[in-house]
Amino acid sequence: MSEHRLSLAVNGRERQLHGKLVSYQLPVTDLPAAGPGNGNGSGHNAGTWSVAIVGLGYVGLPTALALHGRCPRIIGVDISENRLAAIAAHDADLAETDRPRLVAALADGTLELTSDMAAIAAADAVIICVPTPVDDSRVPDLAALRGACAAVVSHARAGQTIILTSTTYAGTTTELLTEPLAARGLVAGTDVFVAFSPERIDPGNPDHVQRETPRVVGGATKACTGRAAWVVGHLTDVVYLVSSPDAAEATKLYENVFRAVSLALANEFADACGALGLDPVEVTLAAGTKPYGFLGAFPGPGVGGHCIPCDPHYLLWQLASSGRSLPLIKQAMRSIDLRPARVTQRAREVLAADGQDLAGARVVVVGASYKAGVRDLRESPALPLIAGLLDQGADVSCYDPLVPVIDLPGGGVLESVAAPQGSGFDLAIVHTVHPGVSYSWVADCPRVLDATYQFDLAPHRTVV
Ligand SMILES: NC(=O)c1ccc[n+]([C@@H]2O[C@H](COP(=O)([O-])OP(=O)(O)OC[C@H]3O[C@@H](n4cnc5c(N)ncnc54)[C@H](O)[C@@H]3O)[C@@H](O)[C@H]2O)c1
Repeated sequence: MSEHRLSLAVNGRERQLHGKLVSYQLPVTDLPAAGPGNGNGSGHNAGTWSVAIVGLGYVGLPTALALHGRCPRIIGVDISENRLAAIAAHDADLAETDRPRLVAALADGTLELTSDMAAIAAADAVIICVPTPVDDSRVPDLAALRGACAAVVSHARAGQTIILTSTTYAGTTTELLTEPLAARGLVAGTDVFVAFSPERIDPGNPDHVQRETPRVVGGATKACTGRAAWVVGHLTDVVYLVSSPDAAEATKLYENVFRAVSLALANEFADACGALGLDPVEVTLAAGTKPYGFLGAFPGPGVGGHCIPCDPHYLLWQLASSGRSLPLIKQAMRSIDLRPARVTQRAREVLAADGQDLAGARVVVVGASYKAGVRDLRESPALPLIAGLLDQGADVSCYDPLVPVIDLPGGGVLESVAAPQGSGFDLAIVHTVHPGVSYSWVADCPRVLDATYQFDLAPHRTVV
């Protein structure tokens, strides 16, 4: 197994600390090239085992596809008929490398699609990847997860390995799987094998492929950890074991809390650079040359997607219920929430510098999805940004070829402009820049506010 460098600020002691980790290696006899294996301690025959993936979204579908060629039967289970139909029609927001895999997995029949939860019973292993959002009050919304886990528990059978991968607070696997299974007479570690293994998929980023991204596994018992590691070992070459599902759950929350805090810091530091007349990207890149003790992030218009704006609230909520507060994390989340309003304020300032009001100004938001290369609008900062601009009376357009229609938070829709002319707007706000899309027209806008800090096609641009 290749040793992965630890991302820890421990001044050169990474190798020493690496020895404290427990890693798992899938037996070579269980890799497809070696043919069907057996007697591997996994309880499953590598040549005939089957897996059910519950929830085929941004995480579940690529997970199913990563098993193509490594698992002979993949049962994709989703409650949404629309989602299943889109997948069957090859119409899913997928990395380029996953598109041919989807075509192949459907064509050779390895990937079956169903909305029938009873299909779970046929699988040797079950991987749960359903959404774990927050509600309007930033409280964890476990409705999908509770529904999925209840279905898995009711269809579970002896011998199954059940792995929860949805991001959630410590204790969820025990509460929603281990305990209800025991109530059904299926004891974890003896009758069934239950574990948590957080997802680390990075949608839209071709640099982080699943096979090379290490995974963490924590089972309800040692036997559970071993069986779950065998399954996860088919998704990635590097698996690390922790002592419990709770430790694995907390691992994922720490990763995303870290990211949230560092993004909030990057935005604040960018504001400080602005006040000092410095370019935050230049300073960040220069700081990033330090080979230890610094792990930077770039500033932007805010933070979106299903993870960073939501996951830290799972920790905040859990600890708040026992009267504990986490002021640094709370402040980071508040800063993240306020960032789009800062962009709106800068738009007002940029126009005011030329004596123009934001009210009535023709403003085009360039890119609506929360990050480059994906269609995903969930929690995108573009949504509060557009809402804020509309509130101030601006005449708002949007250009995002990946998102032809945007449902606005307060109702109404905004369609992406088909063929934008830069000279037709008073201001362009650059929010997301997708690979493979031409943005040369933006240079013709009289004013460009670059919320990505890295849009170099308009020399006259200003940043947030
Ligand atoms: N999107 C990411 O970048 C990312 C990365 C790492 C981890 N995660 C975590 O992975 C989990 C899944 O996120 P996602 O982005 O794939 O969500 P998603 O919304 O893209 O997909 C979830 C799918 O689950 C289906 N579903 C909902 N309830 C169901 C049920 N009861 N039974 C079966 N299917 C059900 C939905 O129809 C949908 O197709 C979340 O916990 C998320 O935090 C996401």
